[in-house]
Amino acid sequence: MKLLITGGAGFIGSNFIHHILKKYPEYQIINVDILTYAGNLENLRIWENDARYRFVKGDITDSVVVDSLVAESDVVVHFAAESHVDRSIANPYVFIDTNIKGTFVLLEAARKYNKRFHHISTDEVFGTLGPKDAPFDENTKYDPRSPYSASKASSDHLVRSYFHTYALPITLSNCSNNYGPFAHPEKFISLVITNLLEGGEQIPVYGDGLQVRDWLYVEDHCKAIDLIIHTGVIGETYCIGGKSERENIWIVKKILELLGKDESMIEYVKDRAGHDRRYAIDYSKIEHELGWHPEVTLEEGLKKTVVWFQENESWWKNVKSGDYQEYYKKQYGK
Ligand code: NAD
Ligand code: TYD
Repeated sequence: MKLLITGGAGFIGSNFIHHILKKYPEYQIINVDILTYAGNLENLRIWENDARYRFVKGDITDSVVVDSLVAESDVVVHFAAESHVDRSIANPYVFIDTNIKGTFVLLEAARKYNKRFHHISTDEVFGTLGPKDAPFDENTKYDPRSPYSASKASSDHLVRSYFHTYALPITLSNCSNNYGPFAHPEKFISLVITNLLEGGEQIPVYGDGLQVRDWLYVEDHCKAIDLIIHTGVIGETYCIGGKSERENIWIVKKILELLGKDESMIEYVKDRAGHDRRYAIDYSKIEHELGWHPEVTLEEGLKKTVVWFQENESWWKNVKSGDYQEYYKKQYGK
């Protein structure tokens, strides 16, 4: 089986490539990624000379690049996106291009060659929950509230429309917040850990810090995607979550404890515009139908993640300084 992974140099995509190449010795992977600030080939250095892995620097909004890569693949697993809410507030344009147009261009190529297509999406398309609301599930009405989540919602609708209109063999997953190795230090948990490891940098907590996210260790997400592409029902959507709802301030205090630091490192800052209060996922469908459930508890996952960042200081220091982008130029001469 040959998988076309889009956005494989990013956080979840690179974890997924590790997962697949380790688990399926006979599989091949093409990773197409334009290497934005979030794409980092250091994440995949161990596969660079492996005959089963190929990297193509390319833009998913470019139909010429996408067409030939989709043609030679069996399954498209679509991760590539602009993924950070704060950036979508500051500059939404690129979110519309990559997340909506990029998905459209991929779908057109998949339609041309009738390829299996799995779309990776987020629980943020469902909007925000009150403290007593039931968690999101596959029947929750879409109600996106940031340019990021609106662009992802739009891409989800396009993917489903290709199933209904053209019978394209698609599946879709909406996952809660991921954390773990290779998560960019702009994302909350990585930011907290790296600021504390760096020393001297405060932890910026937005608003009152009582917003709730449902955290999932990234390897558990990769296992769910693996199951869906192999055993998922065509046309279906699967919600994936951690059953690990925590207030942001709980996360900060836990990491402070793991690193032996005190609460003087916390700095309450101005809240994010339109900040969604609570996300939570009911993953009963994928649990009952495909037999998936999270294996790593939040406490274990946070410990593993802190250790990973401690052991991979040069990785996150290069990301924070921007030096990791020099690696690609040295390696590929462009
Ligand atoms: P990321 O920002 O770490 O990585 C995105 C990757 O896509 C980068 O390598 C980037 O270079 C690449 N990319 C961006 N624009 C591109 C383009 N035009 N052409 C080709 N490549 C391009 O993102 P992530 O956190 O790994 O998220 C991956 C996917 O999972 C996204 O679709 C996101 O919406 C979804 N998701 C993320 C989370 C999370 O907590 N991070 C949770 C649920 C769903
Ligand atoms: P983030 O990792 O950006 O994910 P998302 O907004 O997609 O859920 O943020 C997770 C939570 O942490 C969210 O409620 C915003 C909050 N947050 C902070 O309080 N401070 C920060 O510096 C960041 C980046 C996020």
